[in-house]
Amino acid sequence: MPEISIVVPTFSEAENIAELHARLSAVLGSESWELIFVDDDSPDGTANLARELSNKDQRVRCIQRIGRRGLSTAVVEGALSSSAPYVAVMDADLQHDESILPAMLHELRSRNLDIVVGSRYVAGGGTGNWDESRKTISRIAGRMAKGLVPEDLHDPMSGFFAVRSEALRDAARRLSGYGYKILLDLFVSAGRPLRFAEVPYTFKPRVHGQSKLDSLVAWEYLMLLVDKRIGHIIAPRLLFFLLVGGSGVALHYLTLSTLFLGFHVSFTIAQLAGTVLAMTSNFFLNNLFTYRDQRLRGMRLVRGLLSFYAVCGMGALANIGIAAYAFSANIEWALSAAAGIVVGTLWNYLATARFTWGSRK
Ligand code: GDD
Ligand code: MN
Repeated sequence: MPEISIVVPTFSEAENIAELHARLSAVLGSESWELIFVDDDSPDGTANLARELSNKDQRVRCIQRIGRRGLSTAVVEGALSSSAPYVAVMDADLQHDESILPAMLHELRSRNLDIVVGSRYVAGGGTGNWDESRKTISRIAGRMAKGLVPEDLHDPMSGFFAVRSEALRDAARRLSGYGYKILLDLFVSAGRPLRFAEVPYTFKPRVHGQSKLDSLVAWEYLMLLVDKRIGHIIAPRLLFFLLVGGSGVALHYLTLSTLFLGFHVSFTIAQLAGTVLAMTSNFFLNNLFTYRDQRLRGMRLVRGLLSFYAVCGMGALANIGIAAYAFSANIEWALSAAAGIVVGTLWNYLATARFTWGSRK
């Protein structure tokens, strides 16, 4: 049985994994270890290469996920497939310095810690050749996590760490799983203070392949933060949906007052224009922010817009019907209107989640 499983999430890392395997073999020496690649069906055939490696070295395995994406969930699934007492997580692209793995393991065992973080922000570590903008983004992202993680953890955004498997399994059901920041997720979701230490290393430049860090990763980070801060009160998606809805109300009033007061268009026409404009803007904003991870494009965008109109049209009917019914039952007018708005909005949220964005297989 291996003492440590090295879990490596991969997406299009064909040019890197053989080298990674060679480096791990060299540095881990007599340690009993295994290497688990978790590949999200990379178009460059990373999974096949990983399987070739495991034909040569039994310590290598590959989990191939189809129709799925996500660094964090890949890491969790790889870790849960391990029965070793320790799990290390690192990138496939050779940016994480494998030579500190023995030191990380030693810390973990000898001090009986839950987790040891490979850190760029303690003495002896560094971000290597990062330019100013990447440094700034990293700093801002770090600040946004303030209060969620222990103050004396210097690199909560690290993707390089070793953990006692049990600590990870304990937290597994509470993890958000959004995006890249599995370490941060782990600290917040542990439900108790984790005993940790940091080992310095210098982040290396990527030689082969490309970074997958993009606007979706940034969005997922935001969702993770919202979820971990106020997720117990409101689902992050519902929150985004309501914010977008609020902007729609503002746009509606702006259109209405411009047409009705400014251009003396009839009230009904101005109201209609405001409604259509607000619905359209809501659709595109929700597609961009609330459902960025399942963004509709091309023909599906058109179909999505039509279904959004249909659902929200029904929502408006429900709103009016319920408010009218409440009012006729002698409930105060403002309260009657509020009941209609709440039911209509919830309908819009639930039904568009199902029919507009939920159609993805
Ligand atoms: N399975 C899977 N699925 N793996 C993925 C996915 C995915 O959707 N996206 C990225 N990966 C893999 C990559 O193949 C690579 O092995 C690793 O995750 C990191 O991806 P990069 O795209 O190279 O990320 P990065 O270098 O920009 O970010 C790294 O450094 C950050 C520190 O600033 C990551 O380690 C981050 O977690 C870390 O915060
Ligand atoms: Mn990288």
